[in-house]
Amino acid sequence: MKQYYVENLYGLDDITDFFRVIRSDIKTDSRGKQYLDVLLGDKTGEITAKKWDVEPVEEETLRVKVRPGVIVKVRASVGEWMGAAQLKIKRIRPLAESDVIDMEDFVKAAPEPPQEMFDYISARAESMTDEDYRKVALYLLDENKEALLYYPAAKSNHHAIRSGLLWHIKRMLALGEKCCEVYEWLERDLLICGVIIHDIEKLREMDADEMGLVAEYTFEGQLLGHLVMGVRTIDRLAAELGIPGEKAVMLEHMVLSHHYEPEFGSPKKPMFPEAEVLHHLDMIDARLYDFEDTLKSIQPGSFSDWVRALDGRRVYKPEYKE
Ligand SMILES: [Fe+2]
Ligand SMILES: [Fe+2]
Repeated sequence: MKQYYVENLYGLDDITDFFRVIRSDIKTDSRGKQYLDVLLGDKTGEITAKKWDVEPVEEETLRVKVRPGVIVKVRASVGEWMGAAQLKIKRIRPLAESDVIDMEDFVKAAPEPPQEMFDYISARAESMTDEDYRKVALYLLDENKEALLYYPAAKSNHHAIRSGLLWHIKRMLALGEKCCEVYEWLERDLLICGVIIHDIEKLREMDADEMGLVAEYTFEGQLLGHLVMGVRTIDRLAAELGIPGEKAVMLEHMVLSHHYEPEFGSPKKPMFPEAEVLHHLDMIDARLYDFEDTLKSIQPGSFSDWVRALDGRRVYKPEYKE
């Protein structure tokens, strides 16, 4: 979140700002009084905010007007809770017609321009020497280019940002290349192709708008998920592009096994090294995204709140990291 808030903890002046509502709830405190508990965000990050002592007459209005997705104007003082800045709301209202805002200011986006990330990924695909894997990767990139440029990689967890899926694929590719330098017997083209296709069906698993915000999972996304949907896509492509059966099934296995555990959707664990590496690249990139994101919101020398995406762990930021 804006550095300003962290520097102005308990500052005397109120802040007045626009935010996008990410989560909103009316809760009851230990005194039996109701309060509004919201997570607010803009492209710089997220911040929790509370409006204490909500009167019963206000409750319904707040539920309707302060709901996820809407832009609100907030006047608040800046305090702190568990090492992170938190807003104490004095006034909150939805966007009025006279307010001038730029929607792009309210959505977090990957730190690199989408077209550049896309070009990087295409160049890796282009550089493959295995004609079959090359064909599959290039075909998928071309077929999905438009959506790839803005799609997030998740609804709420890691890379739930505009162009997050490209950012995820790009970093996994860069990391995968390094892995192949150390374990030079790994089949680079197979790994690269696996990275490019492993989450490609997230484009059809979730419904995202051009801001990269996901409203819902699709019907197929709910019932099948991106692993099974990915297998179906490879099946179709293999027939269309004339990919030999063994290679097609290996790619399908990579997609199917990349979540590793049955409770996370994988019916099989990886059965060859490139599939094993794909899973770990995926985990490293997802986890480090969540660590990096969490570290941004805490002060040196303190622990974060429990991070759901990191299995409820708290993250520590060393004191010397001023
Ligand atoms: Fe996945
Ligand atoms: Fe992934």
